Amino acid sequence: MLALDSIAKVMGGRAIRRVVFEPETIQRRVEEMGREITAAYPDGDLLVLGLLKGSFIFLGDLVRQVGRPIQIDFLVAASYGSGTVSSGEVRLLYDPATRLEGKHILLVEDIIDSGRTLNRLIELLQARRPLSLTMCALLHKHIAAGLKMEPRFLGFDAPREFLVGYGLDHAENFRHLPFIASLAE
Ligand code: IMP
Ligand code: MG
Repeated sequence: MLALDSIAKVMGGRAIRRVVFEPETIQRRVEEMGREITAAYPDGDLLVLGLLKGSFIFLGDLVRQVGRPIQIDFLVAASYGSGTVSSGEVRLLYDPATRLEGKHILLVEDIIDSGRTLNRLIELLQARRPLSLTMCALLHKHIAAGLKMEPRFLGFDAPREFLVGYGLDHAENFRHLPFIASLAE
């Protein structure tokens, strides 16, 4: 369990409602996911595509648990601005430089909320003719209507609250928290 005074310090005075996933819980699940991914791809080129910025910590931990050759690249899409409600607008700010054609693509996402970002990216990536396109998400709120693809690898079902930490931000804050918490109103 995390000490409350150290949480208050790392949050800079901003209150959290509760810690939803402790660091140890996250690490255990990420290790399992690494093993699941290793087993799922016995051969072929595998490109792990992290969706920035939210997936950066998850991806960093996850790839170190994958026991087969991989390549890593990133996508940058912006959807939220500084609010806590999806704006619906998805902008691609960085497109992967790596060739996708003929490779297994594993898209790594931090959290699936409305699913708008993913639906847009799935279209874009499929047009590049990968050998396969599969999704891996740390968290899933299960509120997305019309999601074009469900994650084959999923860390946790997420509560329908606004979460921060372990890569997830609120207005670019709190990404560095080693735990995942819901923010107080
Ligand atoms: P979607 O397009 O609504 O599914 O939103 C996807 C993106 O919004 C995620 O990749 C996150 O960056 C961000 N997001 C969604 N829910 C949360 C949350 O609870 N906390 C922080 N960021 C979130
Ligand atoms: Mg964000």
